[in-house]
Amino acid sequence: MMRKIALPAMRTDCNAHIFEDTCFAAKEPIMQFDAWFKEATTAEDIGEPNLMVLTTCGRECRPRARIVYLRGYDETGFRFHTNYASLKGQQLKENPYACLLFFWGPLHRQVIIEGEVEKLTEKENEKQFHTSPRFHQIADLVSFNQSSVIASREVLDDKEAKLKEEYADIEKVIPKPYYRYILVRKLSKSDLKFLKRERKVR
Ligand SMILES: Cc1cc2nc3c(=O)[nH]c(=O)nc-3n(C[C@H](O)[C@H](O)[C@H](O)COP(=O)(O)O)c2cc1C
Repeated sequence: MMRKIALPAMRTDCNAHIFEDTCFAAKEPIMQFDAWFKEATTAEDIGEPNLMVLTTCGRECRPRARIVYLRGYDETGFRFHTNYASLKGQQLKENPYACLLFFWGPLHRQVIIEGEVEKLTEKENEKQFHTSPRFHQIADLVSFNQSSVIASREVLDDKEAKLKEEYADIEKVIPKPYYRYILVRKLSKSDLKFLKRERKVR
């Protein structure tokens, strides 16, 4: 039988993290994000602050959320990398609006970003691919058939071993021609929401 866990008792005291005026670093949402993100990178126990939840919803109106890495951000948007052939890639093709959520538990903060997603150009795509460490580039090729069912872990291990061998003496890993990256490019002020626990801050 499933053991019951006392969920209410798990909540921590959010008053220990009162929102002070000093938490506002900037009027520009992207600069505010930058300040919070930098704080999250130095806060204890956050792990990887660059992980975010990406929610997409295709024409079936069934939202799907999953974790992805933030690969870059500036005034033009928030960049993440994925495979067009994945479920999220298909959903974004049907409906380009997506939502990103950062949650930094120890700081009791979340940031929600809503916007339209665009594909990177071929050139941007290739540049991005080659800024990743080589093992990531190989991993990208290994997991190319993202969201599809595989027979076992071995399939991926074999694929990785073959690719490593194939590229052993080759300096540049070639990205899949149909492997692309996606970017939230059209950022406006209302696209970013900064929240602390249940209380909305901006
Ligand atoms: C820690 C972590 C980081 C991940 N980062 C990415 C990422 O940057 N891009 C990506 O496409 N999938 C990433 N994934 C895998 C996704 O969460 C997801 O399982 C996969 O993209 C397939 O999603 P989909 O079938 O909804 O398209 C990551 C998973 C974990 C656990």
